[in-house]
Amino acid sequence: MGIEIEQPCVSLSKVAVSETHGEDSPYFAGWKAYDENPYDEFSNPSGVIQMGLAENQVSFDLLEQYLEKHSEVSNNGSGASGFRENALFQDYHGLLSFRKAMASFMEQIRGGRAKFNPERIVITAGATAANELLTFILADPGDTLLVPTPYYPGFDRDLRWRTGVNIEPVHCESSNNFEITVEALEAAYNVAESKNKRVRGVLITNPSNPLGATIKRSILGQILDFATRKNIHLVSDEIYSGSAFSSDEFVSIAEILESQNYKNSERVHIVYSLSKDLGLPGFRVGTIYSYNDRVVTTARRMSSFTLISSQTQQLLAAMLSDVEFTENYVKTNRERLKRRYEMIIDGLRDIGIECLDGNAGLFCWMNLSSLLKESSKEQELELWKLILSEVRLNISPGSSCHCSEPGWFRVCFANMSEKTLQIALTRIQDFMERRSKC
Ligand SMILES: Cc1ncc(COP(=O)(O)O)c(C=O)c1O
Repeated sequence: MGIEIEQPCVSLSKVAVSETHGEDSPYFAGWKAYDENPYDEFSNPSGVIQMGLAENQVSFDLLEQYLEKHSEVSNNGSGASGFRENALFQDYHGLLSFRKAMASFMEQIRGGRAKFNPERIVITAGATAANELLTFILADPGDTLLVPTPYYPGFDRDLRWRTGVNIEPVHCESSNNFEITVEALEAAYNVAESKNKRVRGVLITNPSNPLGATIKRSILGQILDFATRKNIHLVSDEIYSGSAFSSDEFVSIAEILESQNYKNSERVHIVYSLSKDLGLPGFRVGTIYSYNDRVVTTARRMSSFTLISSQTQQLLAAMLSDVEFTENYVKTNRERLKRRYEMIIDGLRDIGIECLDGNAGLFCWMNLSSLLKESSKEQELELWKLILSEVRLNISPGSSCHCSEPGWFRVCFANMSEKTLQIALTRIQDFMERRSKC
């Protein structure tokens, strides 16, 4: 931290000292291990390969081509006047041109089967802010949200830390491909009640991180029925919707609502961001789309804390309203992700490693339970440490995603070149061969 300053014992707030940020999990520890010894083909070929980061770099060339061709877009619109427009105060509604472009992009990803009204789009600095903001609006400190496992480790921070809300895990199992069942939802609801907690909602991720699979239409219907029966909210984090290998394979909760003439829609809220589909986590572009007027109004007020810069909105408004560009981008990005997925899945299966059948996402869900001396979280973490130190791969242990079955790992494949992915596969193969000789 540069200059050392003596730290007197002055107290901080409860939020500041709370452990609920969840950043001491192996999910974040693995990132640190990578940062300390990052793989580089030339300068550090024995370094750690980062397979714990759900980043999409497979279609950067398309974005770069667009920006080269449309330099006026990245150049503050029409020079000085564009600069002034961006520099001056923006209100929390955001630019209408951006909200319109975002709504039509969300429709396009869903194959035009769902409609989005730009007036219902609330802008946020990424899905992280959107999920926290919704939690603030839907639940009070001490209340509970049900979240199916395995789930994105960041939810422990985003839903709990500053809001004081609890997560009750909904345990899904490998025996039915980790699909969400009404029985599992009911069981989690009952556990929360037995702790005297008020359940305010259920939050699903569709397509799922870390499973890399979409949720079936029939199951979405059952989850909505469950939320309606219990009179709770349903948040659908659809941040990976554009990564589904085809738009037909992904069913948005928006489609279910449309097919039911928006019955029970006031309890439904969609979270979306461009961090995954456009591979732009650094731009911090997210949205909340709610069918509940009061939630829209409150979320808009609260979004003052986490807006998107006008410059970013303007650039993306232009890019996303270029239908020729977006159609080509979405199609090509899907094809490339599918190809990557097949490359890693085939590679792992050739080595004898089982993976869940996926159809979306920037990762696959790999089963290494046969390598555990005994089926426990401790043994899973031992294996994770070994893979980090010996194989020099950072993958995410299932326990960091609250998976109830030890031995599963999330492996990201879209944040590196195909060549690096091949090197990672070779390292895994060598590791498995060494293990089989022990
Ligand atoms: C399911 C899910 N929600 C939210 C986020 C956070 O996304 P953002 O970068 O838009 O804040 C992630 C990032 O990995 C995620 O996987």
